[in-house]
Amino acid sequence: MQELSVSQNLSSDGGFIVIFGGSGDLARRKLLPALARLRTQGLLPEKFAVVGVGRSNLDDASFREKSGLDAASILDQMYYCHADYTVQGAQILDVRLHELANQLSVPLNVLFYLSVPPDAFLPIIAALSQQGMVHQNSDGHGWSRVIIEKPFGRDLASAQALNRSILSHLTEDQIYRIDHYLGKEGVQNLLVFRFANPIFEPIWSARHIDNIQITAAETLGVEGRGGYYESAGVLRDMIQNHLMQVLCLTCMEPPASLDPDDVRNEKVKVLKALRAMCLSGEDSDVIRGQYAAGKVGADLVCGYREEPDVPETSTTETFAALRVFIDNFRWAGVPIYLRSGKRMSHRGTQITVTFKEGAKILFNSLPGVVAPRNRIIFQIQPDEGILLELGTKRPGQSIRIEKTSMNFAWHEAFESVSPEAYERLLLDAFRGDATLFVRSDESELSWKFLQPVLEKWTSTSGKSKIPLYPAGSDGPDAAQGLLARDDREWVGHA
Ligand code: BG6
Repeated sequence: MQELSVSQNLSSDGGFIVIFGGSGDLARRKLLPALARLRTQGLLPEKFAVVGVGRSNLDDASFREKSGLDAASILDQMYYCHADYTVQGAQILDVRLHELANQLSVPLNVLFYLSVPPDAFLPIIAALSQQGMVHQNSDGHGWSRVIIEKPFGRDLASAQALNRSILSHLTEDQIYRIDHYLGKEGVQNLLVFRFANPIFEPIWSARHIDNIQITAAETLGVEGRGGYYESAGVLRDMIQNHLMQVLCLTCMEPPASLDPDDVRNEKVKVLKALRAMCLSGEDSDVIRGQYAAGKVGADLVCGYREEPDVPETSTTETFAALRVFIDNFRWAGVPIYLRSGKRMSHRGTQITVTFKEGAKILFNSLPGVVAPRNRIIFQIQPDEGILLELGTKRPGQSIRIEKTSMNFAWHEAFESVSPEAYERLLLDAFRGDATLFVRSDESELSWKFLQPVLEKWTSTSGKSKIPLYPAGSDGPDAAQGLLARDDREWVGHA
Protein backbone atom coordinates (compact mmCIF):
# COMPACT_ATOMS: atom_id res chain seq x y z
CA MET A 1 0.00 0.00 0.00
CA GLN A 2 1.54 3.25 -1.05
CA GLU A 3 0.39 6.77 -0.66
CA LEU A 4 -0.61 8.66 -3.75
CA SER A 5 -0.45 12.29 -4.48
CA VAL A 6 -1.78 14.16 -7.45
CA SER A 7 1.67 14.55 -8.89
CA GLN A 8 2.36 10.82 -8.67
CA ASN A 9 -0.69 9.67 -10.52
CA LEU A 10 -1.31 5.99 -10.81
CA SER A 11 0.45 5.00 -13.95
CA SER A 12 1.96 7.58 -16.16
CA ASP A 13 1.71 5.25 -19.15
CA GLY A 14 -2.05 5.08 -18.83
CA GLY A 15 -4.41 2.47 -20.15
CA PHE A 16 -8.04 1.35 -20.23
CA ILE A 17 -10.63 0.33 -17.71
CA VAL A 18 -13.05 -1.97 -19.46
CA ILE A 19 -16.26 -2.49 -17.51
CA PHE A 20 -18.29 -5.56 -18.43
CA GLY A 21 -21.81 -4.72 -17.34
CA GLY A 22 -20.98 -1.14 -18.23
CA SER A 23 -24.60 -0.05 -18.48
CA GLY A 24 -25.56 -1.85 -15.27
CA ASP A 25 -26.44 -0.63 -11.84
CA LEU A 26 -23.04 -0.91 -10.15
CA ALA A 27 -21.29 0.88 -12.99
CA ARG A 28 -23.79 3.74 -12.92
CA ARG A 29 -24.04 4.06 -9.13
CA LYS A 30 -20.45 3.42 -8.07
CA LEU A 31 -17.81 2.74 -10.69
CA LEU A 32 -18.28 5.59 -13.16
CA PRO A 33 -18.78 8.22 -10.42
CA ALA A 34 -15.64 6.90 -8.68
CA LEU A 35 -13.66 7.27 -11.90
CA ALA A 36 -15.09 10.73 -12.42
CA ARG A 37 -13.95 11.79 -8.93
CA LEU A 38 -10.49 10.33 -9.52
CA ARG A 39 -10.21 12.29 -12.71
CA THR A 40 -11.32 15.51 -10.99
CA GLN A 41 -8.59 15.00 -8.40
CA GLY A 42 -6.02 14.53 -11.14
CA LEU A 43 -5.35 10.94 -10.11
CA LEU A 44 -5.98 9.35 -13.48
CA PRO A 45 -3.31 9.33 -16.14
CA GLU A 46 -3.80 11.59 -19.09
CA LYS A 47 -3.85 8.74 -21.53
CA PHE A 48 -6.78 6.90 -20.14
CA ALA A 49 -10.18 5.69 -21.33
CA VAL A 50 -13.14 3.86 -19.88
CA VAL A 51 -14.90 1.37 -22.10
CA GLY A 52 -18.29 0.03 -21.05
CA VAL A 53 -19.10 -3.37 -22.52
CA GLY A 54 -22.51 -4.94 -22.52
CA ARG A 55 -25.38 -6.53 -24.34
CA SER A 56 -27.49 -3.35 -24.21
CA ASN A 57 -27.44 -1.77 -27.61
CA LEU A 58 -25.85 1.57 -26.75
CA ASP A 59 -23.34 3.75 -28.51
CA ASP A 60 -20.78 6.11 -26.98
CA ALA A 61 -23.27 8.98 -26.80
CA SER A 62 -26.08 7.03 -25.16
CA PHE A 63 -23.62 5.37 -22.75
CA ARG A 64 -22.41 8.80 -21.68
CA GLU A 65 -25.92 10.09 -21.34
CA LYS A 66 -27.12 7.08 -19.36
CA SER A 67 -24.28 7.44 -16.88
CA GLY A 68 -25.86 10.61 -15.51
CA LEU A 69 -22.40 12.18 -15.11
CA ASP A 70 -21.89 15.80 -15.96
CA ALA A 71 -19.89 16.98 -18.90
CA ALA A 72 -17.04 18.31 -16.78
CA SER A 73 -16.28 14.93 -15.28
CA ILE A 74 -15.06 12.04 -17.34
CA LEU A 75 -17.60 11.84 -20.15
CA ASP A 76 -15.11 12.68 -22.87
CA GLN A 77 -13.04 9.64 -21.93
CA MET A 78 -15.96 7.18 -21.94
CA TYR A 79 -16.71 4.78 -24.78
CA TYR A 80 -19.08 1.90 -25.27
CA CYS A 81 -18.67 -1.42 -26.99
CA HIS A 82 -21.80 -3.41 -27.75
CA ALA A 83 -20.71 -7.01 -27.37
CA ASP A 84 -21.82 -10.19 -25.65
CA TYR A 85 -19.77 -12.42 -23.40
CA THR A 86 -18.61 -14.87 -26.06
CA VAL A 87 -15.42 -15.21 -28.09
CA GLN A 88 -17.11 -13.22 -30.88
CA GLY A 89 -17.84 -10.53 -28.29
CA ALA A 90 -14.21 -10.55 -27.20
CA GLN A 91 -13.13 -10.15 -30.84
CA ILE A 92 -15.36 -7.12 -31.23
CA LEU A 93 -13.93 -5.65 -28.03
CA ASP A 94 -10.38 -6.40 -29.10
CA VAL A 95 -10.85 -4.54 -32.36
CA ARG A 96 -12.45 -1.60 -30.56
CA LEU A 97 -9.64 -1.39 -28.00
CA HIS A 98 -7.00 -1.38 -30.73
CA GLU A 99 -8.87 1.35 -32.60
CA LEU A 100 -9.19 3.47 -29.47
CA ALA A 101 -5.57 2.85 -28.53
CA ASN A 102 -4.45 4.18 -31.92
CA GLN A 103 -6.89 7.02 -32.03
CA LEU A 104 -6.24 8.25 -28.49
CA SER A 105 -2.64 7.11 -28.12
CA VAL A 106 -3.59 5.17 -25.00
CA PRO A 107 -1.31 2.20 -24.32
CA LEU A 108 -2.93 -1.21 -24.30
CA ASN A 109 -2.79 -1.74 -20.56
CA VAL A 110 -6.20 -3.06 -19.64
CA LEU A 111 -7.99 -3.43 -16.35
CA PHE A 112 -11.11 -5.51 -16.97
CA TYR A 113 -13.87 -5.08 -14.41
CA LEU A 114 -16.41 -7.92 -14.31
CA SER A 115 -19.47 -6.16 -12.98
CA VAL A 116 -21.74 -8.97 -14.15
CA PRO A 117 -23.67 -11.86 -12.57
CA PRO A 118 -21.34 -14.62 -11.33
CA ASP A 119 -22.30 -17.11 -14.04
CA ALA A 120 -20.76 -14.73 -16.58
CA PHE A 121 -17.32 -14.52 -14.86
CA LEU A 122 -15.87 -17.61 -16.44
CA PRO A 123 -17.27 -17.25 -19.97
CA ILE A 124 -15.88 -13.72 -20.13
CA ILE A 125 -12.44 -14.68 -18.84
CA ALA A 126 -12.29 -17.71 -21.16
CA ALA A 127 -13.30 -15.57 -24.15
CA LEU A 128 -10.73 -12.88 -23.33
CA SER A 129 -8.10 -15.53 -22.89
CA GLN A 130 -8.96 -17.26 -26.15
CA GLN A 131 -8.74 -13.92 -27.90
CA GLY A 132 -5.28 -13.39 -26.36
CA MET A 133 -6.40 -10.36 -24.37
CA VAL A 134 -5.27 -11.33 -20.87
CA HIS A 135 -1.54 -11.56 -21.37
CA GLN A 136 1.07 -10.74 -18.80
CA ASN A 137 3.26 -7.72 -19.34
CA SER A 138 5.63 -9.27 -21.86
CA ASP A 139 6.50 -9.34 -25.55
CA GLY A 140 5.71 -5.72 -26.03
CA HIS A 141 2.14 -6.17 -24.74
CA GLY A 142 0.89 -4.02 -21.96
CA TRP A 143 -0.47 -5.60 -18.81
CA SER A 144 -3.95 -6.94 -18.23
CA ARG A 145 -5.69 -7.48 -14.93
CA VAL A 146 -9.18 -8.57 -14.02
CA ILE A 147 -11.33 -7.31 -11.14
CA ILE A 148 -13.96 -9.83 -10.14
CA GLU A 149 -17.02 -8.66 -8.23
CA LYS A 150 -18.62 -10.70 -5.51
CA PRO A 151 -20.12 -13.20 -4.98
CA PHE A 152 -17.00 -15.27 -5.54
CA GLY A 153 -18.60 -18.70 -5.38
CA ARG A 154 -21.62 -19.65 -3.31
CA ASP A 155 -19.92 -22.31 -1.17
CA LEU A 156 -16.51 -23.93 -0.78
CA ALA A 157 -16.77 -26.28 -3.76
CA SER A 158 -17.97 -23.60 -6.18
CA ALA A 159 -15.33 -21.10 -5.00
CA GLN A 160 -12.61 -23.73 -5.44
CA ALA A 161 -13.91 -24.67 -8.88
CA LEU A 162 -14.10 -21.02 -9.90
CA ASN A 163 -10.55 -20.40 -8.71
CA ARG A 164 -9.26 -23.45 -10.56
CA SER A 165 -10.94 -22.44 -13.79
CA ILE A 166 -9.90 -18.80 -13.61
CA LEU A 167 -6.34 -19.76 -12.76
CA SER A 168 -6.17 -21.81 -15.94
CA HIS A 169 -6.44 -18.49 -17.86
CA LEU A 170 -4.85 -15.95 -15.53
CA THR A 171 -2.11 -15.87 -12.95
CA GLU A 172 -3.06 -15.06 -9.37
CA ASP A 173 -1.38 -11.67 -9.60
CA GLN A 174 -3.68 -10.70 -12.47
CA ILE A 175 -6.79 -11.44 -10.40
CA TYR A 176 -8.31 -8.78 -8.17
CA ARG A 177 -11.22 -10.21 -6.13
CA ILE A 178 -12.94 -7.13 -4.86
CA ASP A 179 -14.43 -6.68 -1.41
CA HIS A 180 -15.53 -3.10 -1.19
CA TYR A 181 -15.27 -3.08 2.61
CA LEU A 182 -11.48 -3.18 2.20
CA GLY A 183 -11.69 0.14 0.38
CA LYS A 184 -13.44 1.87 3.28
CA GLU A 185 -11.21 4.32 5.12
CA GLY A 186 -12.20 3.03 8.55
CA VAL A 187 -11.31 -0.52 7.56
CA GLN A 188 -7.96 0.49 6.10
CA ASN A 189 -7.31 2.45 9.26
CA LEU A 190 -7.43 -0.74 11.34
CA LEU A 191 -3.88 -1.53 10.25
CA VAL A 192 -2.73 2.01 10.93
CA PHE A 193 -4.44 2.16 14.32
CA ARG A 194 -2.94 -1.13 15.40
CA PHE A 195 0.53 -0.94 13.95
CA ALA A 196 1.34 2.77 13.83
CA ASN A 197 0.33 3.33 17.46
CA PRO A 198 2.53 1.08 19.54
CA ILE A 199 0.63 1.80 22.77
CA PHE A 200 -2.16 -0.52 21.69
CA GLU A 201 -0.17 -3.52 20.53
CA PRO A 202 0.70 -4.82 24.04
CA ILE A 203 -2.96 -4.81 25.11
CA TRP A 204 -4.32 -6.35 21.87
CA SER A 205 -4.73 -9.89 23.09
CA ALA A 206 -6.63 -12.35 25.25
CA ARG A 207 -4.70 -11.06 28.20
CA HIS A 208 -6.57 -7.76 28.19
CA ILE A 209 -9.48 -8.11 25.80
CA ASP A 210 -12.72 -9.69 26.97
CA ASN A 211 -14.57 -9.85 23.65
CA ILE A 212 -14.85 -8.29 20.23
CA GLN A 213 -18.07 -7.51 18.40
CA ILE A 214 -18.35 -6.75 14.72
CA THR A 215 -21.72 -5.42 13.58
CA ALA A 216 -22.80 -4.50 10.06
CA ALA A 217 -26.41 -3.42 10.26
CA GLU A 218 -28.53 -2.06 7.45
CA THR A 219 -31.91 -0.42 7.58
CA LEU A 220 -32.45 -1.23 3.91
CA GLY A 221 -34.21 -4.37 2.79
CA VAL A 222 -33.30 -6.30 -0.35
CA GLU A 223 -34.04 -3.30 -2.59
CA GLY A 224 -35.49 -5.16 -5.55
CA ARG A 225 -32.75 -7.80 -5.46
CA GLY A 226 -35.00 -10.51 -4.03
CA GLY A 227 -34.02 -12.99 -6.74
CA TYR A 228 -30.32 -12.71 -5.98
CA TYR A 229 -30.79 -12.47 -2.23
CA GLU A 230 -32.97 -15.55 -2.08
CA SER A 231 -30.04 -17.63 -3.32
CA ALA A 232 -27.58 -15.84 -1.05
CA GLY A 233 -28.77 -14.78 2.42
CA VAL A 234 -26.73 -12.66 4.77
CA LEU A 235 -24.11 -15.32 5.44
CA ARG A 236 -23.02 -15.31 1.80
CA ASP A 237 -23.86 -11.69 1.10
CA MET A 238 -22.09 -9.99 4.01
CA ILE A 239 -20.45 -12.36 6.46
CA GLN A 240 -18.35 -14.63 4.22
CA ASN A 241 -16.65 -11.61 2.69
CA HIS A 242 -17.04 -8.23 4.40
CA LEU A 243 -17.24 -9.29 8.04
CA MET A 244 -14.60 -12.00 7.77
CA GLN A 245 -12.21 -9.49 6.19
CA VAL A 246 -12.82 -7.01 8.99
CA LEU A 247 -12.27 -9.80 11.51
CA CYS A 248 -8.92 -10.65 9.91
CA LEU A 249 -7.69 -7.06 9.95
CA THR A 250 -8.77 -6.61 13.56
CA CYS A 251 -7.05 -9.75 14.76
CA MET A 252 -4.10 -10.51 12.48
CA GLU A 253 -0.46 -10.35 13.51
CA PRO A 254 1.69 -7.48 12.24
CA PRO A 255 2.77 -8.28 8.69
CA ALA A 256 6.47 -8.34 7.84
CA SER A 257 5.90 -5.51 5.36
CA LEU A 258 3.10 -3.81 3.48
CA ASP A 259 3.73 -6.03 0.51
CA PRO A 260 0.35 -7.40 -0.62
CA ASP A 261 1.33 -10.98 0.09
CA ASP A 262 2.76 -10.25 3.50
CA VAL A 263 -0.53 -8.63 4.51
CA ARG A 264 -2.62 -11.38 2.98
CA ASN A 265 -0.48 -14.13 4.52
CA GLU A 266 -1.34 -12.78 7.96
CA LYS A 267 -5.05 -12.73 7.17
CA VAL A 268 -4.80 -16.32 6.00
CA LYS A 269 -3.24 -17.33 9.33
CA VAL A 270 -6.26 -15.93 11.17
CA LEU A 271 -8.66 -17.82 8.91
CA LYS A 272 -6.71 -21.04 9.44
CA ALA A 273 -6.89 -20.65 13.20
CA LEU A 274 -10.69 -20.30 13.36
CA ARG A 275 -12.26 -22.94 15.57
CA ALA A 276 -15.05 -25.00 14.01
CA MET A 277 -18.34 -23.65 15.32
CA CYS A 278 -20.86 -25.64 17.31
CA LEU A 279 -24.04 -25.79 15.27
CA SER A 280 -26.54 -27.67 17.34
CA GLY A 281 -28.60 -27.34 20.45
CA GLU A 282 -28.48 -24.63 23.02
CA ASP A 283 -24.76 -24.13 22.56
CA SER A 284 -25.00 -23.33 18.90
CA ASP A 285 -22.57 -20.60 17.88
CA VAL A 286 -24.79 -19.46 15.02
CA ILE A 287 -28.27 -18.02 14.99
CA ARG A 288 -30.30 -16.61 12.13
CA GLY A 289 -33.53 -14.75 11.46
CA GLN A 290 -35.64 -13.22 8.73
CA TYR A 291 -37.41 -9.88 8.78
CA ALA A 292 -41.15 -9.69 9.01
CA ALA A 293 -43.17 -6.57 8.31
CA GLY A 294 -42.43 -3.68 10.65
CA LYS A 295 -41.50 -0.07 10.94
CA VAL A 296 -38.06 1.27 10.09
CA GLY A 297 -37.90 4.85 11.30
CA ALA A 298 -41.22 6.31 10.20
CA ASP A 299 -41.73 3.87 7.32
CA LEU A 300 -43.92 0.82 7.37
CA VAL A 301 -42.17 -1.87 5.38
CA CYS A 302 -43.11 -5.32 4.21
CA GLY A 303 -41.62 -8.59 5.39
CA TYR A 304 -38.93 -10.38 3.40
CA ARG A 305 -41.40 -12.96 2.11
CA GLU A 306 -43.53 -10.20 0.62
CA GLU A 307 -40.59 -8.77 -1.36
CA PRO A 308 -40.70 -9.24 -5.15
CA ASP A 309 -39.13 -12.51 -6.34
CA VAL A 310 -39.13 -14.04 -2.86
CA PRO A 311 -41.27 -17.14 -2.29
CA GLU A 312 -43.83 -17.03 0.52
CA THR A 313 -42.18 -20.02 2.13
CA SER A 314 -38.64 -18.67 2.02
CA THR A 315 -36.30 -19.64 4.85
CA THR A 316 -33.43 -17.47 3.63
CA GLU A 317 -31.77 -15.61 6.48
CA THR A 318 -31.66 -11.83 6.41
CA PHE A 319 -29.92 -11.71 9.79
CA ALA A 320 -27.22 -13.88 11.29
CA ALA A 321 -25.06 -13.72 14.38
CA LEU A 322 -22.05 -15.90 15.04
CA ARG A 323 -19.74 -16.58 17.94
CA VAL A 324 -16.26 -17.25 16.67
CA PHE A 325 -12.97 -18.17 18.34
CA ILE A 326 -9.48 -17.83 16.94
CA ASP A 327 -7.45 -20.65 18.42
CA ASN A 328 -4.05 -19.05 18.45
CA PHE A 329 -1.75 -17.70 21.08
CA ARG A 330 -3.01 -14.14 20.91
CA TRP A 331 -6.74 -14.80 20.98
CA ALA A 332 -7.17 -18.02 22.95
CA GLY A 333 -10.59 -17.96 24.59
CA VAL A 334 -11.72 -14.51 23.39
CA PRO A 335 -15.17 -14.70 21.80
CA ILE A 336 -15.65 -12.66 18.68
CA TYR A 337 -19.28 -11.99 17.92
CA LEU A 338 -20.30 -11.13 14.39
CA ARG A 339 -23.75 -9.96 13.33
CA SER A 340 -25.24 -8.55 10.22
CA GLY A 341 -28.77 -7.99 9.09
CA LYS A 342 -31.15 -6.13 6.85
CA ARG A 343 -34.06 -4.00 8.08
CA MET A 344 -32.44 -3.34 11.40
CA SER A 345 -33.25 -0.44 13.69
CA HIS A 346 -30.10 1.50 12.77
CA ARG A 347 -27.59 1.57 9.97
CA GLY A 348 -24.05 1.17 11.17
CA THR A 349 -20.88 -0.83 10.89
CA GLN A 350 -18.69 -0.92 13.93
CA ILE A 351 -16.10 -2.97 15.72
CA THR A 352 -16.32 -2.90 19.48
CA VAL A 353 -13.38 -4.11 21.51
CA THR A 354 -14.28 -4.56 25.18
CA PHE A 355 -11.46 -4.88 27.67
CA LYS A 356 -11.42 -7.06 30.74
CA GLU A 357 -12.63 -5.82 34.07
CA GLY A 358 -10.01 -4.41 36.41
CA ALA A 359 -9.27 -6.09 39.70
CA LYS A 360 -12.17 -5.57 42.09
CA ILE A 361 -10.23 -3.55 44.62
CA LEU A 362 -10.10 0.19 45.08
CA PHE A 363 -13.17 1.79 43.53
CA ASN A 364 -15.28 -1.29 43.12
CA SER A 365 -15.00 -1.83 46.86
CA LEU A 366 -16.92 1.42 47.46
CA PRO A 367 -20.63 0.76 47.86
CA GLY A 368 -22.57 1.56 44.71
CA VAL A 369 -19.50 2.36 42.62
CA VAL A 370 -18.93 0.34 39.50
CA ALA A 371 -16.08 1.12 37.17
CA PRO A 372 -17.26 0.68 33.58
CA ARG A 373 -15.33 -1.47 31.16
CA ASN A 374 -12.92 0.22 28.81
CA ARG A 375 -13.93 -0.06 25.22
CA ILE A 376 -12.59 1.00 21.87
CA ILE A 377 -15.26 1.37 19.23
CA PHE A 378 -14.25 1.71 15.60
CA GLN A 379 -17.12 3.32 13.78
CA ILE A 380 -16.67 2.37 10.14
CA GLN A 381 -19.88 3.96 8.89
CA PRO A 382 -21.71 6.26 9.00
CA ASP A 383 -19.70 9.06 10.69
CA GLU A 384 -16.32 7.36 10.75
CA GLY A 385 -14.63 7.67 14.08
CA ILE A 386 -12.95 5.99 17.01
CA LEU A 387 -14.34 6.14 20.50
CA LEU A 388 -12.44 5.26 23.64
CA GLU A 389 -14.73 4.64 26.58
CA LEU A 390 -13.31 5.42 30.01
CA GLY A 391 -14.45 5.62 33.59
CA THR A 392 -14.22 9.20 34.86
CA LYS A 393 -14.88 10.76 38.23
CA ARG A 394 -18.17 12.54 38.27
CA PRO A 395 -17.72 16.04 39.76
CA GLY A 396 -18.82 16.11 43.39
CA GLN A 397 -17.76 15.47 46.98
CA SER A 398 -17.60 11.72 46.73
CA ILE A 399 -16.27 9.19 44.28
CA ARG A 400 -18.74 8.30 41.59
CA ILE A 401 -17.52 6.87 38.32
CA GLU A 402 -19.26 7.57 35.05
CA LYS A 403 -18.69 6.18 31.62
CA THR A 404 -17.28 8.92 29.38
CA SER A 405 -15.78 8.81 25.97
CA MET A 406 -12.95 10.32 24.00
CA ASN A 407 -14.28 10.69 20.54
CA PHE A 408 -12.22 11.04 17.43
CA ALA A 409 -14.25 11.91 14.34
CA TRP A 410 -12.68 11.80 10.91
CA HIS A 411 -14.65 14.75 9.61
CA GLU A 412 -13.41 16.97 12.44
CA ALA A 413 -9.78 15.96 12.05
CA PHE A 414 -9.51 16.02 8.28
CA GLU A 415 -10.89 18.60 5.94
CA SER A 416 -11.19 16.30 3.00
CA VAL A 417 -14.13 13.97 2.61
CA SER A 418 -13.22 10.29 2.75
CA PRO A 419 -12.93 8.82 -0.71
CA GLU A 420 -15.50 6.23 -1.71
CA ALA A 421 -14.31 2.65 -1.33
CA TYR A 422 -14.44 2.07 -5.08
CA GLU A 423 -12.15 5.02 -5.81
CA ARG A 424 -9.34 3.56 -3.80
CA LEU A 425 -9.85 0.04 -5.09
CA LEU A 426 -9.99 1.03 -8.76
CA LEU A 427 -6.88 3.08 -8.33
CA ASP A 428 -5.01 0.29 -6.58
CA ALA A 429 -5.97 -2.30 -9.18
CA PHE A 430 -4.91 0.03 -11.95
CA ARG A 431 -1.47 0.49 -10.47
CA GLY A 432 -1.15 -3.20 -9.62
CA ASP A 433 -1.42 -3.07 -5.84
CA ALA A 434 -3.41 -6.08 -4.65
CA THR A 435 -3.11 -5.43 -0.90
CA LEU A 436 -6.78 -4.53 -0.55
CA PHE A 437 -8.01 -7.43 -2.68
CA VAL A 438 -8.81 -10.96 -1.61
CA ARG A 439 -6.44 -13.77 -2.54
CA SER A 440 -7.79 -17.17 -3.57
CA ASP A 441 -6.79 -18.89 -0.35
CA GLU A 442 -8.46 -16.23 1.80
CA SER A 443 -11.70 -16.62 -0.06
CA GLU A 444 -11.60 -20.41 0.10
CA LEU A 445 -10.70 -20.54 3.80
CA SER A 446 -13.56 -18.24 4.62
CA TRP A 447 -15.96 -20.47 2.69
CA LYS A 448 -14.47 -23.53 4.35
CA PHE A 449 -15.15 -22.09 7.79
CA LEU A 450 -18.78 -21.30 6.96
CA GLN A 451 -19.49 -24.40 4.88
CA PRO A 452 -20.92 -26.48 7.78
CA VAL A 453 -23.40 -23.67 8.50
CA LEU A 454 -24.50 -23.55 4.87
CA GLU A 455 -24.90 -27.32 4.83
CA LYS A 456 -26.88 -27.36 8.03
CA TRP A 457 -29.24 -24.66 6.82
CA THR A 458 -29.69 -26.35 3.47
CA SER A 459 -30.42 -29.70 5.08
CA THR A 460 -33.08 -28.22 7.37
CA SER A 461 -34.55 -25.93 4.74
CA GLY A 462 -38.29 -26.55 4.47
CA LYS A 463 -38.20 -28.64 7.66
CA SER A 464 -37.38 -26.15 10.34
CA LYS A 465 -38.76 -22.68 10.74
CA ILE A 466 -36.64 -19.59 10.64
CA PRO A 467 -37.22 -17.16 13.50
CA LEU A 468 -38.77 -13.91 12.34
CA TYR A 469 -37.92 -10.47 13.67
CA PRO A 470 -39.88 -7.31 13.04
CA ALA A 471 -38.30 -4.94 10.55
CA GLY A 472 -36.81 -2.03 12.49
CA SER A 473 -35.69 -4.17 15.45
CA ASP A 474 -32.28 -5.46 16.58
CA GLY A 475 -32.87 -8.91 15.11
CA PRO A 476 -34.39 -12.08 16.59
CA ASP A 477 -34.38 -12.69 20.35
CA ALA A 478 -31.86 -15.46 19.90
CA ALA A 479 -29.26 -12.81 18.97
CA GLN A 480 -29.43 -11.50 22.53
CA GLY A 481 -29.40 -15.07 23.83
CA LEU A 482 -26.14 -15.83 22.02
CA LEU A 483 -24.36 -13.33 24.26
CA ALA A 484 -26.54 -13.61 27.33
CA ARG A 485 -25.42 -17.18 27.87
CA ASP A 486 -21.84 -15.86 28.04
CA ASP A 487 -23.02 -13.18 30.47
CA ARG A 488 -22.46 -10.49 27.88
CA GLU A 489 -24.57 -8.23 25.76
CA TRP A 490 -24.30 -6.52 22.42
CA VAL A 491 -22.93 -3.02 22.55
CA GLY A 492 -25.13 -0.64 20.58
CA HIS A 493 -28.00 -1.36 18.27
CA ALA A 494 -28.07 -3.41 15.17
C1 BG6 B 1 -23.01 -5.58 -0.62
C2 BG6 B 1 -24.21 -6.46 -0.40
O1 BG6 B 1 -21.85 -6.34 -0.79
O2 BG6 B 1 -22.83 -4.74 0.52
C3 BG6 B 1 -25.45 -5.65 -0.13
O3 BG6 B 1 -24.42 -7.28 -1.54
C4 BG6 B 1 -25.19 -4.69 1.00
O4 BG6 B 1 -26.56 -6.47 0.16
C5 BG6 B 1 -23.93 -3.88 0.77
O5 BG6 B 1 -26.32 -3.81 1.08
C6 BG6 B 1 -23.59 -3.05 1.98
O6 BG6 B 1 -22.55 -2.19 1.65
P1 BG6 B 1 -22.34 -0.82 2.43
O7 BG6 B 1 -21.10 -0.26 1.85
O8 BG6 B 1 -23.57 -0.01 2.20
O9 BG6 B 1 -22.21 -1.21 3.88
